[in-house]
Amino acid sequence: MKIISHPLRLKETLRDAQGSVGFVPTMGALHEGHLELIKNARKENDIVVVSIFVNPTQFLEGEDLDKYPRRDEADKKICELAGVDILFFPTAQDIYSEDEVKLQAPNVRGYILEGFTRPGHFSGVLTVVMKLLNIVSPTRAYFGKKDAQQLHLIMLMVKQYFMSVEIVPIDTVRDSDGLAQSSRNVYLSAEQRAEALKIPTSLYHGAKLISQGVTDVERIRKEILEILSGLEVGYVAILSREFEPIDTVQIGNSIILVEAIVGETRLLDNIWL
Ligand code: PAJ
Repeated sequence: MKIISHPLRLKETLRDAQGSVGFVPTMGALHEGHLELIKNARKENDIVVVSIFVNPTQFLEGEDLDKYPRRDEADKKICELAGVDILFFPTAQDIYSEDEVKLQAPNVRGYILEGFTRPGHFSGVLTVVMKLLNIVSPTRAYFGKKDAQQLHLIMLMVKQYFMSVEIVPIDTVRDSDGLAQSSRNVYLSAEQRAEALKIPTSLYHGAKLISQGVTDVERIRKEILEILSGLEVGYVAILSREFEPIDTVQIGNSIILVEAIVGETRLLDNIWL
């Protein structure tokens, strides 16, 4: 496995590469969710590139940029064992300059949910993903459905900017107790973790109601909120897969999304219906 930190070096290395390139962008502290993305990339491409970059522009003032978990050595081992060909490990100076052309998240879908609770977050995500995709020029890039709004906005950007990459969505990987894997789960105490389980429980309850024929969005939201009581809820939203508001759930085109803060840890989860 090659480890490369400079964008132009990586471009040069990939210029002569033969075959398809699968790319998995991450912020490190790799877990099973990331591994699932890497496994899919490995299966479907000749060359696999993973990036580890804790992107400063997607963190708001006062968020956990400085204490975001960093496990560089363990991450390198994990990538090597997973059959990654190139690990891209840039610094902020390698990626950003002082005076930057900036991408802005779209006004409707980019400013609701996470975009509302974390203004500017998605502009930072889109900017770095655009840069990373331009550096790697992959055939396919892999993103988790766990960050559903992020995935949606990246697909929108790729379409609206006529980019050639294929975006491949990957199902959420969960621990055996149902909690979605996240690099931020390490912040949770045992008690907080038990509380956090209300999140997947509430989503499964929503899905069960729907399987029983309940389609009224307000009723489903209300029952989900009851299960989440005791947690600081950022939002519970039931939307179409295009992130449009709906009154009734349509199976095959709906998604329930939850953001809740447990202790000081922001957790996201969703279920696709
Ligand atoms: P990060 O949180 O490290 O996640 C990297 C990728 O792993 C994302 O596409 C995310 O959706 C996916 N992922 C995280 N947890 C997952 C799980 N439990 N199951 C399946 N996939 C999961 O998301 C980011 O980094 C950044 O915003 C990034 C896209 C790298 C831009 O900086």
